[in-house]
Amino acid sequence: MRIIEDPAELQAPDLCGCGFVPTMGALHAGHGSLVTRARADGRPVVVSIFVNPTQFGPNEDYARYPRTLDSDCALLEPLGAAAVFVPPVEAIYPNGLAAARIESEAIALPAVATAPGLEDACRPGHFGGVALVVGRLFDLVRPSAAYFGEKDFQQLRLVQDMVSADRPRYGELRIVPCPTVREGDGLAMSSRNRYLSGDERTAAIALARALQVAHSAQRVETAERLMRETLESF
Ligand code: PAF
Repeated sequence: MRIIEDPAELQAPDLCGCGFVPTMGALHAGHGSLVTRARADGRPVVVSIFVNPTQFGPNEDYARYPRTLDSDCALLEPLGAAAVFVPPVEAIYPNGLAAARIESEAIALPAVATAPGLEDACRPGHFGGVALVVGRLFDLVRPSAAYFGEKDFQQLRLVQDMVSADRPRYGELRIVPCPTVREGDGLAMSSRNRYLSGDERTAAIALARALQVAHSAQRVETAERLMRETLESF
């Protein structure tokens, strides 16, 4: 497995038409399942690890986001990834971060990214940064397919719409949704779960269970009652 910092190396013939798994590192079995899914499509798999500054708000966890390259590579190697792309910030944002932030704010996002009351409401600017970096990574890696977890469902929908709205830029690129991978207690795997206190983790599991029971209901009133009962049982 190669570790690539220089984007020019991504054009190696053996990586042509690769399957691509973009990540911010701190990898877990959820990321592993994306690589396994990509490998099943029979192409070489490139994984990117880049903690993208433009998708973090000023009071978010950019500085303390876990950077664990050695253990990330130890997880990826046995899964058969061909290369890990670990670009320096300058390779992604050659005009500097201030210019990149202005660019991300100017992106015309698909409607799903600004749906009322969803993630954009509490993380203004987040999806502009995601759209900017994902587009830039697609330009550099030039994959034939890219694999995204359904855990970040709004992000997945944003990327799907972004790619289908700009075929001249992205060509035949296929976006492949992959199922959420959960811990034994039902919590969706996430690099940020390590931040949770015991009580916060219990609350997060309660929310996941409440959403699961709501899914089985036929009527809104039933869904609300089942969710309330589930939350109160914790
Ligand atoms: O889901 C993530 O880890 C990030 O948002 C992504 C898609 C790698 C872009 O930085």
